[in-house]
Amino acid sequence: MTIHLSSDDCLLAIESTCDETAAAVITRSGCVLGECVATQETLHEQFAGVVPEIAARAHLERILPVIDTAIVQSRIAMDRLVAVAVATHPGLPGSLLVGLSAAKALALAWSKPLVGINHVQAHVYACGMGHGSSIYPCIGFVVSGGHTSLYHCHSATDWAYLGGTIDDAAGEAFDKVAVMLGLPFPGGPQLSALASSGNPRAIQFPRPLLDDHTRLDFSFSGLKTAVRYHIAGTGQKDWSLIELSDQDKMDIAACFQQSVIDCLVGKAVLAVKKTGLKRICLGGGVAANRRLREQLQAACDSKGIELLIAAPELCTDNAVMGALAWEKIERGEYDSLELDAQPGLLRPALGAKRR
Ligand code: KG4
Ligand code: ZN
Repeated sequence: MTIHLSSDDCLLAIESTCDETAAAVITRSGCVLGECVATQETLHEQFAGVVPEIAARAHLERILPVIDTAIVQSRIAMDRLVAVAVATHPGLPGSLLVGLSAAKALALAWSKPLVGINHVQAHVYACGMGHGSSIYPCIGFVVSGGHTSLYHCHSATDWAYLGGTIDDAAGEAFDKVAVMLGLPFPGGPQLSALASSGNPRAIQFPRPLLDDHTRLDFSFSGLKTAVRYHIAGTGQKDWSLIELSDQDKMDIAACFQQSVIDCLVGKAVLAVKKTGLKRICLGGGVAANRRLREQLQAACDSKGIELLIAAPELCTDNAVMGALAWEKIERGEYDSLELDAQPGLLRPALGAKRR
């Protein structure tokens, strides 16, 4: 079924997969009429990580004011709204349920169709917003606090899993090393700022799995441990007492960041070699990292690969990337009110066979 839409038609998109509560009103032509993101960083800071139960409760408090703000800002008449879209997977179960319940209630109350979307696919879709032409087929590369995965994206929603982290996600490793350096949560952006004053060649940290050209996987857990042992000395348990100079901290940050970037760039280029695709689309929170953007761009330029990276404000979680729902709406692919949250990761089960 093909649905005829006008460029003025709007959808309301809702995002609550992790610790950002977000809503946006987006036209079919990609114009963002209203947007609101409520972060929860201060709530999770003392735990140096996202606490699922706290996240779910905070979503519950924020979801209606956030949606209200986006709609009021958009100034649309309700008859322009053609659907309510919501990210239903992957994510934290309690967090997903808050967004999904709100979306279902509004869809029912307003008699609008409901559309469930995949959060990881939305991160890649964000790379094409404002691009003008389709970004598919491409290598979709999502690097965030919860994901570090490569996909063969045949279209916006037809994906095959190529490889990903076998332990920590890259953003998670950034956040954990940031804690070792005494930086506040989420430490990725602060660690990256500290790294800009350090020497990326001062310490030789490992590049896990980088030399294994048979697989498109990542492993950041051992790298994190290597940083910890560098700080404390091998085998030491109580590293909290170690005093680091500012220069030490800057060098550790720069060298850790460089190891992560080398792995990310190396495997992205290997994915191109293995699939024959000539376009990489990079999204997710860590894609906001300036050095990663520059170094992946340089690698792609030298190999004739087209690179599209989500705009920095669309890298971390937001609802604007929920414009992905238009792809399903155009095909008349709506969901019923039976739609459920699927917390698990986007692993091979969702796409075709792993290559
Ligand atoms: O996409 P996102 O908002 O949430 C998930 O879906 O996980 O990503 C958040 C992650 C955090 O781990 C944060 O530290 C990391 O992205 N991050 C960065 C930078 N900005 C955000 N990591 C490194 N450098 C940055 N500039
Ligand atoms: Zn995300």
